[in-house]
Amino acid sequence: MRDPVTITLTTVAQAAYLVAGVLFILSLAGLSKQETARRGNVLGMVGMGVAILATVVLALDESARPVWVTALLIVLVLVFGAAVGTWRARTVEMTQMPELIAMLHSFVGAAAVIIGYNSYLTEKDAGGAHLVEVYLGVLIGAVTFTGSIVAYLKLSARIKSNPLTLPGRNLLNAGALVVSAGLMVWFIPSQSIWPLAIMTVIALLLGLHLVAAIGGGDMPVVVSMLNSYSGWAAAAAGFMLGNNLLIVTGSLVGSSGAILSYLMCKAMNRKFISVILGGFGNEGGKVAKEVGGEYREVSVADTAEMLKAARSVVIAPGYGMAVAKAQYPVAELTSRLRAQGVQVRFAVHPVAGRLPGHMNVLLAEAKVPYDIVLEMDEINEDFAGTDVVLVIGANDTVNPAAMEDPGSPIAGMPVLEVWKADQVVVFKRSMATGYAGVPNPLFYRENSAMLFGDAKVKVEEILAAL
Ligand code: TAP
Repeated sequence: MRDPVTITLTTVAQAAYLVAGVLFILSLAGLSKQETARRGNVLGMVGMGVAILATVVLALDESARPVWVTALLIVLVLVFGAAVGTWRARTVEMTQMPELIAMLHSFVGAAAVIIGYNSYLTEKDAGGAHLVEVYLGVLIGAVTFTGSIVAYLKLSARIKSNPLTLPGRNLLNAGALVVSAGLMVWFIPSQSIWPLAIMTVIALLLGLHLVAAIGGGDMPVVVSMLNSYSGWAAAAAGFMLGNNLLIVTGSLVGSSGAILSYLMCKAMNRKFISVILGGFGNEGGKVAKEVGGEYREVSVADTAEMLKAARSVVIAPGYGMAVAKAQYPVAELTSRLRAQGVQVRFAVHPVAGRLPGHMNVLLAEAKVPYDIVLEMDEINEDFAGTDVVLVIGANDTVNPAAMEDPGSPIAGMPVLEVWKADQVVVFKRSMATGYAGVPNPLFYRENSAMLFGDAKVKVEEILAAL
């Protein structure tokens, strides 16, 4: 029987886990609205602090080695992790967030694989249920690990974002799953390491192939889908370690990631199954229309005049605004125009920028009032009555080809219908394409004009001209 002190410590740690779990749920609830996002973040951080403290106490309490050895190991790992984490958080640009997140997901996947093997090697004869946990944990972890690495490489443009279309790729994926299921039937009764090892190799290749087959346009969904996988991998690790908090947290991440992936698929008019199965069911063979013609350039002075004469202005921000860090002068332009009685609103596309909520975060950072920042569905009908639209560093999210050209790679994706306004000014540095690499006919429309240059510099010049 355990002595009373040990029982108390374990009980306190379990209670702390419960508190942390509740804090994580409250944190997710807070993060779902801009107004409460900051509080959500704080709750999440406090929850994580409580969880780490409780885990350390438990580890010291249950240590098989002398307590000081365990304590030293924990301190070393904590210092190393905190140092790397702080350094990355300080140096990462907002625009590199998705690739950082993809890289972090790969760590969760790798951890699940390592925990799985550790659990298999150290807990012999732990029973069939435990072996199933080990097997599934390693499977999900391995797929998450390599899938996240490919996502990282694609998002950071270290490899091309084109989809890899191997012949019979759906059969390959299905085959990998069937063989893995067969190997599990061998693994459970035999407890041999061979089926586990063969499945690990197959799962690593499956992760590579699944994400390699997904094109650049669908990458936002992939990032949130890998987020979901990493949650399930963590939950599986929780089962193996008998850690309730890891099970709860993993399930929260797994399900919220899955919900987000689904919502993003809906927003982009993509089939969820098609995206998660690596482009399954996508029709090939359609050819996009040629895009070209004459485009018109506009000067800073003329844009300022246009804005002075306008009664309603909509700003459609995109990735370029983030790159240029133009949100601050954009916020100033907004308050200047509003002070002169112009109605100014923002049109935010669900996948503008490079991560969910990217534009909302930037605009909130620059203190743009929440009530004038509208979602695509809330504002799309209003473009027709708008005098001037300023497209600031957005491209794919305002591309009319998505609605008008069935052969376009982004066909079917809902976009901001900015071209319906009286005048459109597009802020960008060149005629280059956006993330999806698709030419944009908006630039050649009669009511569109290009204002070339860095978005921040141009908005500041407009402010000076006003
Ligand atoms: P994009 O289509 O990526 O276009 C951004 C535009 O900004 C580029 O055409 C670029 O043109 C311009 N730009 C870059 N730096 C600039 C600067 N300093 N000043 C002015 N302009 C600058 O942007 P979007 O409309 O926001 O669309 C987002 C795309 O990313 C979608 O395809 C989406 O699917 C994808 N994506 C989204 C996410 C999420 S979750 N949001 C995640 C991954 C990928 P120049 O080079 O000519 O300046």
